[in-house]
Amino acid sequence: MRIVQVPLGNRSYAIKVGDDLLPRLGAECARLKLGRRCAVITDANVGRHHAKAVLKSLAASGFEPVLITVPAGEKSKRVAMVEKCHDQLAAHRLERNSFIVALGGGVVGDLAGFVAATYLRGIPFVQVPTTLLAQVDSSVGGKTGVNLKSGKNLVGAFYQPRLVLCDLDTFRTLPKREYISGLAEVIKYGIIHDAVLFAQLERNLPKLLQRDPATLRDVVARCCEIKADVVGQDETEGGLRAILNFGHTIGHAIENSSGYGKYLHGEAISIGQVAAAKLSHTILGLPSADVARIEKLFVRSGLPVKIRLDAARRKKLFAAMKLDKKVSDGEVKFVLAQKLGKVTWGQRVSSALIEQVLG
Ligand code: NAD
Ligand code: GLY
Repeated sequence: MRIVQVPLGNRSYAIKVGDDLLPRLGAECARLKLGRRCAVITDANVGRHHAKAVLKSLAASGFEPVLITVPAGEKSKRVAMVEKCHDQLAAHRLERNSFIVALGGGVVGDLAGFVAATYLRGIPFVQVPTTLLAQVDSSVGGKTGVNLKSGKNLVGAFYQPRLVLCDLDTFRTLPKREYISGLAEVIKYGIIHDAVLFAQLERNLPKLLQRDPATLRDVVARCCEIKADVVGQDETEGGLRAILNFGHTIGHAIENSSGYGKYLHGEAISIGQVAAAKLSHTILGLPSADVARIEKLFVRSGLPVKIRLDAARRKKLFAAMKLDKKVSDGEVKFVLAQKLGKVTWGQRVSSALIEQVLG
């Protein structure tokens, strides 16, 4: 097992990465000295495969878990679902020292984290991420929240988990398209922070695509290290943390303007990252050879790198971009790369240039 610490003073926590960790969840929670009553929030797909092991492990360590299952998919990330979860927590009499286990992908993690942040003004929660995207990104760093009709993640809170338990075995049941979508966030870490990781990904992609356990353990742990380092320096995105949004300005707009669900998050940010690499070439002089390497790695991973836009969709996409949280004073700001492994944030980009790189 690999352990990565997220350094946040008295709110520091560990990310544990390894095989066969679900049966150890109860023992891990016992070490955190949490109350006996807890709720496992999951979605229908994940619950079917993994809830039993989680409930068994918690019960074996003396906890009294209740299971709350929400429908799978982005549509569960909404305010109405938060209220439904709150009502169930209250019905099961969860108290201040009770805790929540978020068992699932980014949707469950963001939703359950926000439920934990807001129930009784905040109760502890533990992330048990079951998608690649959630293990390397969404479960770490405390961004929780839900969507509004007008945009993604517009309601939320920074609220850190007490532990993140990444069981690589949960990927055995993860559909291929979801797994590949997660690779988009993995590649992101190479671009924004670690050229060596990027080169390793280029070399080891076939193993990663086969979900080779040793490769996965190293890659997931390295991505978590990078995220932990960034979050440790800038928890609430005053500056540096923005680099984690590389490719997300266009990516979020693609998700929003095409109706959540058409593109998976990783697919949308794959297109967004390739567009951001092209912008980086024009604005910051990112070498065209690096732009080509970036595009090739996404393509080899099986991710989309282009979007076809007619006039109506183009209009919708630009309107969505202006609603992004990263907009300030009406200007869309971008994270752009100077070279592989080094990015800068807060870059102004004209609409004309964005249109040009989207083709
Ligand atoms: P997801 O949670 O919707 O999971 C994808 C699908 O896979 C779902 O249908 C789910 O039921 C299923 N699934 C999950 N794990 C499974 C498993 N082990 N076996 C079988 N099926 C499984 O999507 P996601 O890609 O994990 O997360 C996307 C969400 O994460 C978006 O809402 C995005 O905004 C959010 N996100 C948040 C952050 C953050 O910092 N909080 C960062 C990145 C993304
Ligand atoms: N996924 C972006 C962040 O955590 O800041």
